[in-house]
Amino acid sequence: MSCYVRKLALILLSSLIPFALCYADISLPKPQIKDGMSLFESLKKRASTSGGGFPTGKISDEELSQVLWAASGLNRGKTGWTVPMVKGKPPYVRIYIAGEKGTFLYEWEGHYLREINNKDIRADIGLQNFTKRAAYSLIFVSDANVLADINPEESAHFNYTAVGAMSQNAYLAAAALKLNARYIHSIKSDAIIQALELPEDRKPLGMLILGK
Ligand SMILES: Cc1cc2nc3c(=O)[nH]c(=O)nc-3n(C[C@H](O)[C@H](O)[C@H](O)COP(=O)(O)O)c2cc1C
Repeated sequence: MSCYVRKLALILLSSLIPFALCYADISLPKPQIKDGMSLFESLKKRASTSGGGFPTGKISDEELSQVLWAASGLNRGKTGWTVPMVKGKPPYVRIYIAGEKGTFLYEWEGHYLREINNKDIRADIGLQNFTKRAAYSLIFVSDANVLADINPEESAHFNYTAVGAMSQNAYLAAAALKLNARYIHSIKSDAIIQALELPEDRKPLGMLILGK
């Protein structure tokens, strides 16, 4: 092989390596939206699991898929979601997921997890020690870009309205699946911004821990 061809092969190979390392997105199973507990039964069962007794069991991809779909999945064609979004805008609060295998962004369009990195950050993001025990933390992060045409004060209200709807849906899905959940406002924002490599326009608002 000539020196030139070898050099070219090396350049090609090294340009492919980053793609190979980054490409660890997780496709989620199709959410099971038939059967199961009735809405009113899950409303009756909805509760926060106490922090002190928060369990350490694992959660299956099927269960995570159901909860994420409930929290901000598409439910009507290409622009209708399980939670109301002002002016029918796409979700301006995004859900990041921290788990044993790393951190991910839930992509409602396509219903999959986009890998951010493969670090387990669960022990670094909550002000209360028990939060690290949860199988997953669903971190609610506002995306200012989507609400760029709305004034900042109103946007802040809209963001928390969305977090309320999303977390309640997740609570209800968790109850229906007999999982444990607790909403947590006491988060380490700066650590989350760093760990999730968030750009300027994204801000962590709270999280919901999920366990079994
Ligand atoms: C806005 C909000 C913030 C919360 N923040 C925390 C928190 O930082 N830490 C915590 O352990 N629980 C937190 N919780 C959970 C509440 O303490 C819990 O929902 C409350 O005790 C009522 O219990 P229930 O959900 O079982 O009805 C929060 C709940 C809400 C709605």
